[in-house]
Amino acid sequence: MSEEALSGQEDFHCICHEFARVTEAAALAAGRWMGKGDGAAAEDAARVAMHKAFRHVPIEGTIVVGEGEDPEVSPLAVGRMVGVGGRSCDLALIALEGANIVARGQAGAISALVAGAPNSIMRAPDMYMQKIVVGAPIVGKVDIEAPVEDTVQVIAEALGVKASEVTLIVLDRPRHDDLVATLRRAGARIKLIPDGDVMAGIAAAVRGTGDHAYIGIGGAPEGIMTAAAMRCLGGEIVAKLWPLSRREIERARTFGIDDIERCMRTDDMVRGHLVLSATGVTNGDVLKGVHYQPGGARTQTMLMCTKCRQIRYVDTVHDLKEPANEVGFWRIT
Ligand code: FBP
Repeated sequence: MSEEALSGQEDFHCICHEFARVTEAAALAAGRWMGKGDGAAAEDAARVAMHKAFRHVPIEGTIVVGEGEDPEVSPLAVGRMVGVGGRSCDLALIALEGANIVARGQAGAISALVAGAPNSIMRAPDMYMQKIVVGAPIVGKVDIEAPVEDTVQVIAEALGVKASEVTLIVLDRPRHDDLVATLRRAGARIKLIPDGDVMAGIAAAVRGTGDHAYIGIGGAPEGIMTAAAMRCLGGEIVAKLWPLSRREIERARTFGIDDIERCMRTDDMVRGHLVLSATGVTNGDVLKGVHYQPGGARTQTMLMCTKCRQIRYVDTVHDLKEPANEVGFWRIT
């Protein structure tokens, strides 16, 4: 099936909005667990809801980046098929990015998925990836192999600001201690986040957030999601897999990755037309989290579609009354 088929240009309309319902469902389920100290339960709830929501989506979707790698164990594992049948597509999904964020009631947890034509999304093993993510003004200018001090300088020059005015997001992990020390010596401003580097990459590429780049080592599946977001937002990810053992290098080979040292850019990870839907679970700098109100809830979703050439902020009020036999009046201001 052609790329056009996914977004419906061969037919008459794009189906990208269908994907917003899926991430909304996952976010609504995960949102219930905010602050309850149980990230695993939040994740499970998001996975179950996302899987269920796919039952209404007119696709024949193959999960290529998913929740787990054993199709026998997880219904959203790599290799599983979802959808009610229709257009063939590849899917990359994260039912809940930031399980611990939800558990602690912190900022920036999301539910996200990417859809593209078959073979448009790179298969990535569940391992670490070194990444730099930047917005449009910096595209083509950063190099994953360059010293980070130079990267700060390059970003500052591209933005026309001083190095001391550049804001970089970094995952707060012991493995980043040296990176953080070097960035501080270079004079950059640093925002340490507890989890969630897909959202951090999106924040770096969206104008007006005040964040200029995401840098550090996070999950490879999250790197693929970020690549899709950069394709939609006109930003860029530069990345390199970061294996922790020989076993991981061998595993990467089974995914067709022979050169583990290879530096990748956005187009090496995703290609063609893509849809990305991300719904806020907890409030963040780009997306609001799930807000509950009498008889329902309200969600905010960023729906990006390269074929429609639109980025839509979908603000949805959900009637969750049981039984659903009464038309409600919503106070939405
Ligand atoms: P969750 O899987 O708990 O939702 O965490 C997501 C995440 O923070 C990603 O954003 C990031 O890429 C990865 O975990 C980092 O992994 P680690 O926690 O092992 O440092």
